[in-house]
Amino acid sequence: MLNDILSGKKIILGVTGCIAAYKACYLTRELRERGAEVRVVMTPSALQFIAPLTFSSLSGNEVIVNVFPESQQDGTGLKTWHIDYALWADLMIIAPATVNTAAKIAHGFADNALTILALALRCPLIIAPAADTDMYEKPITRQNLNKLSELGHYVIEAEVGSLASGLSGIGRFPEPEKIIDAVELILSGYTKDLSGKKILITAGPTFEDIDPVRFIGNRSSGKMGFNLVKAAYLRGAEVTLISGPVYEKIYPEINTVKVRSTFEMKEAVEKYLKDNQILIMSAAVADYQPESAAIKKIKKEEHLKNLKLKQTVDILASINKRGKKIIGFALETDEEKANALKKLKDKNLDMIVLNSLSDERSGFEYDTNKITIFHRSGKEVDYPLQSKFQAANKILSEILKLK
Ligand code: CTP
Repeated sequence: MLNDILSGKKIILGVTGCIAAYKACYLTRELRERGAEVRVVMTPSALQFIAPLTFSSLSGNEVIVNVFPESQQDGTGLKTWHIDYALWADLMIIAPATVNTAAKIAHGFADNALTILALALRCPLIIAPAADTDMYEKPITRQNLNKLSELGHYVIEAEVGSLASGLSGIGRFPEPEKIIDAVELILSGYTKDLSGKKILITAGPTFEDIDPVRFIGNRSSGKMGFNLVKAAYLRGAEVTLISGPVYEKIYPEINTVKVRSTFEMKEAVEKYLKDNQILIMSAAVADYQPESAAIKKIKKEEHLKNLKLKQTVDILASINKRGKKIIGFALETDEEKANALKKLKDKNLDMIVLNSLSDERSGFEYDTNKITIFHRSGKEVDYPLQSKFQAANKILSEILKLK
């Protein structure tokens, strides 16, 4: 990946005594693959689930478990390791965090190597708690997690799903990808600055059926829109995703509405926009549809060569925008700026994001994008090629500046 923000970053991974501790192994590997240096600290109860050797092998570094390491018991090599670690780190992640460890950190306890380190830190701290539903939902746990957020720590809430106990409910540890996304977000300097915002985002292509076999579509992968959803959610927004047919994966807790045709997307946008303050139309909407879709497969010798098309509805141009912030995209290959500005005006938008296809590694299917943002006020911001997650964050920061 282009200029990976994780590259060269120093990360402490704290692991506590929870069955999800095995997922911290994947996390260690992924962090290292992205170029980060990882040091692992485990609580004594984490040893019941995973051997320190697993983490020392995966991280390539010594694992800290004891406050007073055996080699230092005679006092000869005794150092202030907790302060050295705390000063070394760019970020600490506690994943998984038991509700016990979360409670201790929320109240300033420092009774093992991990909690001592958490108290000594100068860098940001991400806490990803996991527990059985009853423990997770207890008012005291909720209070402790809220307290951690109030103290400025970044809490990644557990997900709903099947749990090790056989029960099903909230408390499940998230997939490592989400934690890595949060790591990238925090290391890039973002916070939950979109808390309280309700954002509707469309993504992917729309397909217009010709018959049960064929359709008119386009090459949109949905990557830009899905990255916008992830970034907005991790920055604290309440997000609804309206997605055309794509293969991209999204966090399970995101309210996702799946559509196929332009008409279905328009209906969904109209329905959900009422309850949202901001609309980001990143979908690559099909411009044409057959005059009528055939119920049975059309033979090529027959009507296919006489296929008649009509224009689809322009969603952005047709919706009621009153009181909403509306952001469009423009995908252009030539006369880029002029075309983007024309769309900004004609579709009555607050902001438009120009996606240039003329740049290498930009546009459909790529994980990188080259964008320029035009505000209704005339302000223009140009960005170099960057990952779609980074581009998404730049777009969201510009939306925050809209009056
Ligand atoms: N859009 C829309 N409804 C359509 C077509 C596009 O709401 N039927 C939205 C897109 O989601 C995007 C913006 O309008 O935010 C511009 O889309 P784009 O495909 O670049 O422009 P078009 O208006 O379709 O014009 P053209 O294809 O001729 O460039």
